[in-house]
Amino acid sequence: MKYREMTVDDLQYVVEKNIEYYNTVEECCWTYEKAYKRIHQVLTMEDSMCMIQTDQDDNITGYLMGYFKEYDDIRGYFLEEIVIFVGHQGKGYGTDFLKHLEKVVNENNASIIELNSVNDDRHINFYSNLGFYPVSNFVMMGKFME
Ligand SMILES: CC(C)(COP(=O)(O)OP(=O)(O)OC[C@H]1O[C@@H](n2cnc3c(N)ncnc32)[C@H](O)[C@@H]1OP(=O)(O)O)[C@@H](O)C(=O)NCCC(=O)NCCS
Repeated sequence: MKYREMTVDDLQYVVEKNIEYYNTVEECCWTYEKAYKRIHQVLTMEDSMCMIQTDQDDNITGYLMGYFKEYDDIRGYFLEEIVIFVGHQGKGYGTDFLKHLEKVVNENNASIIELNSVNDDRHINFYSNLGFYPVSNFVMMGKFME
């Protein structure tokens, strides 16, 4: 697989493929505008690093987006989203992508990759195979407003 940094020129294609996956496979209701805004927001933030994965024929097979974070003692990378597009999943592409990400994060002097995973067996299996594990010192919290 080949990798390059994502630019605003990739947005239209990435947004369309993102919507194709989430709205057809996961029955979500993304509009183009909302999906564009979500990805554009991460792409253009300070210390953002977003990447495109292509196969040997230069077809775009997926993308990931995230950003570097500063802590008092270390630098980290927060992976906001990784999506392997419809027709390309389950072929090892996501695994290859995260291995590549680890390399790039390391080259950028960051020592941890953090992410929020969907809490189901497939996702936990995917990330666990790459050495990720649930942390015990934090728990994600949320609250819907009434
Ligand atoms: C999750 C995802 C990035 C994994 O990439 P991939 O190339 O499909 O995965 P790989 O072939 O490298 O690894 C296979 C493992 O990934 C997981 N996996 C495969 N397809 C998946 C899917 N549609 N959703 C969730 N996990 C999936 C399984 O654990 C699988 O192992 P198994 O074959 O033993 O069941 C990819 O399937 C995807 O983009 N899913 C939809 C978007 C998503 O859920 N992103 C992550 C948000 S936390």
